[in-house]
Amino acid sequence: MNGEEIKRTLKEYNLQSWSKQKNLNPIPVEKAEGIYFWDYEGNRYTDMSSQLVNMNLGFGNQAINQAIKDQVDQFCFVGPSYGAESRAELAKRIIKLMPENMGKVFFTNAGAESNENAVKIARMFTGKHKIFSRYRSYHGSSFGAGNLTGEPRRYALEPGVPGFIKFFDPYVYREAVDFESEEAATKYYLTKLEEQIQYEGTDSIAAIVMETITGSNGILIPPKGYMSGVRALCDKYGILMICDEVMTGWCRTGKMFAFEHFDIKPDIVTFAKGVTCGYVPLGGVVVTKEIAAYFDDNLLSCGLTYSGHPLSCAAGVACVNYYEEANILDNVNEVGMLLGEKLEELKASHDCVGDVRYIGLFSAIELVKSKETKEALVPYGKDTQGIMGKILGLLKERKFMTYTHENMILIAPPLIITKEQLVEELVKVDEVLSIVDDTYVK
Ligand SMILES: Cc1ncc(COP(=O)(O)O)c(C=O)c1O
Repeated sequence: MNGEEIKRTLKEYNLQSWSKQKNLNPIPVEKAEGIYFWDYEGNRYTDMSSQLVNMNLGFGNQAINQAIKDQVDQFCFVGPSYGAESRAELAKRIIKLMPENMGKVFFTNAGAESNENAVKIARMFTGKHKIFSRYRSYHGSSFGAGNLTGEPRRYALEPGVPGFIKFFDPYVYREAVDFESEEAATKYYLTKLEEQIQYEGTDSIAAIVMETITGSNGILIPPKGYMSGVRALCDKYGILMICDEVMTGWCRTGKMFAFEHFDIKPDIVTFAKGVTCGYVPLGGVVVTKEIAAYFDDNLLSCGLTYSGHPLSCAAGVACVNYYEEANILDNVNEVGMLLGEKLEELKASHDCVGDVRYIGLFSAIELVKSKETKEALVPYGKDTQGIMGKILGLLKERKFMTYTHENMILIAPPLIITKEQLVEELVKVDEVLSIVDDTYVK
């Protein structure tokens, strides 16, 4: 097929996620390399979101490709109850990357399945049923994970799962209270959370599920002391702390896993995306030694045909090797520093930029109608005029490919991006923000 035929055929036969189908215009991709991809007309685009914040190592990584090919040559699949070397190796490598309290991993195919299974494990282990998660969160779109999710992508699943409780995020920029310090913000949010735990019944809560750093919903970085405070509340009330590292894991934030920024040890960690960088699907649930030991004599009532698929695990081992051997964390921290500086410059020079938030190569630009009132550029969950889509279109005209969520532009390029490439791309954002200033700011 040529590019036009691919597009036409997709539009005729394929349902695309999260979209009204009528006016879709998918770019047919002919080739891809590093941080770039090309359409069938030879136009080059820059992937400034690592696709869905999963292609951490960019396109065409030969080490990952080769590992998949080698596994194909040995065998593509054996079921979860058989021994596959790639599965054994990856399980060991993942546990070695975790704090010493972590014991075993249960493999899944993706992020949603990881969170669903984490919740099941937490319920089985604690014998309790309630699960806390936050409003500004995304944990996947299958039934259970979609109910953990707090943002509007949850609505299609409602009425939801009984016992799934939402609490407020530490979203300091948009809080009604003006905090004197990060510590004051932390105290406020933890007090409210503890109150809510008490109202729900301290003996009924199995787990608190959090994106360690909120991703799609705007890179909400917890204020100082917040995560250790949640950890302390979990310990006080016998609640398991589940960190969703589906987006933040695998070097994205400048650490292998984002919880390392906060000096905490979760009870359960979920991951997906960057473990294989999208070359093949894989996810997983890491549990403590204590939880793992519980299932020595109790049935682990979780199962998936493709749990620990050998091809995916082979890709996973190659990715872990590459993160380490290519010192990806050094690049994330160096280029991430520059990203932060450039975003602060954009905030200072554009009226439409209310806030910028960034850590490693994980960032968001929050757009407002007015810096003073902080009125969001589009109302929550209701961008009826498609303004953010238009802004995305302006970026796309410049071949800067990313996605937006609510009133935010997300920027999370592949972790192999160079400083020169980043600077070149941010010039395009600067241009587009000038248009937004002129068109939408009061
Ligand atoms: C934090 C987080 N958790 C879970 C998911 C769901 O992952 P998947 O789409 O692989 O099911 C996502 C997807 O973007 C995510 O960002």
